[in-house]
Amino acid sequence: MDNKVFAAQLAAVATEIERELSDLLDPAPREGEIARPERLIEAMRYAMLGGGKRLRPFLVVETARAFGAIGQGPRRVAAAIECIHGYSLIHDDLPAMDNDDLRRGRPTVHRAFDDATAILAGDALLTLAFEIVARPETAPSGETRAAICAGLARASGLAGMVGGQMLDLAAESASTPLDAAAIAQLQAMKTGALLRFSVEAGGLIAGAPAAVQAALGRYGEALGAAFQIADDLLDAEGDAKALGKRAGKDAERNKATFVAALGLKGAHARCDELVKEAIAAIDATGLGEAGDSLRAAARFVAARRS
Ligand code: IPE
Ligand code: IPE
Ligand code: MG
Ligand code: MG
Ligand code: MG
Repeated sequence: MDNKVFAAQLAAVATEIERELSDLLDPAPREGEIARPERLIEAMRYAMLGGGKRLRPFLVVETARAFGAIGQGPRRVAAAIECIHGYSLIHDDLPAMDNDDLRRGRPTVHRAFDDATAILAGDALLTLAFEIVARPETAPSGETRAAICAGLARASGLAGMVGGQMLDLAAESASTPLDAAAIAQLQAMKTGALLRFSVEAGGLIAGAPAAVQAALGRYGEALGAAFQIADDLLDAEGDAKALGKRAGKDAERNKATFVAALGLKGAHARCDELVKEAIAAIDATGLGEAGDSLRAAARFVAARRS
């Protein structure tokens, strides 16, 4: 699959997911709710409907599609994971964390609103994600919904994204720089876990066979690792205009990255190696051509310019 076809597919999934998110984040209260405070839902919509590549939703929807599942179920799981991602970005940008003013080419949520609203918008997106997955519209089987809830919690929390964010912040002031193994672990948690779970969730909602889930996990893991290295390379080599966020901030803040540990050339080489690993894992699923969009996603992760 060439880049143009992939770009069109990614855009199509993004449109689908934005519609889903816009519905879920309706300013009017849902049946059974007391009220949706105006400023809070406004901040949530600002964060969730203002761009983004929608790569995690793409991974959910395309993995599910590869195993024959389409429609509202995969779409809702994709939207839920994107809510977790959106919350992680809102909190990541806060003054107490990376202290960034620009995201997706616009002021960050705490800049456009205020710190307290940004914290609460993140909290509400985090909890909404689990409500979306747990509701019966997502999948007829309660067991499937519970498995996705448990996997999402694990990927997002203490031993996943939140834990990784803790390690990322701690590394800024570490007395000795982290070695490659420690950086790989940090990144597998802060970014890799949710990307990996996006792939696994696509398999879960489609009822993919257990044997294939292991290969999907390997794909997600390699893709997730490549993704964060590419993010770090873009921070070092890109510019704010193309990125929609400030560049050069990792070196400034002494972030633990492969660019710092291996240099630009070493980081590029490691990223390319991981893309190959990801593609080999798709080959091992036996999906054949049905896995082409996932192979293209792995290549995209390393080649992207934003
Ligand atoms: C940025 O994620 C934060 C990281 C996990 C590195 P994305 O690059 O997926 O951000 P959007 O959603 O496309 O803006
Ligand atoms: C963020 O990593 C990972 C998250 C869990 C949000 P970064 O701090 O490198 O992401 P950017 O560069 O601000 O998007
Ligand atoms: Mg950060
Ligand atoms: Mg950041
Ligand atoms: Mg970054």
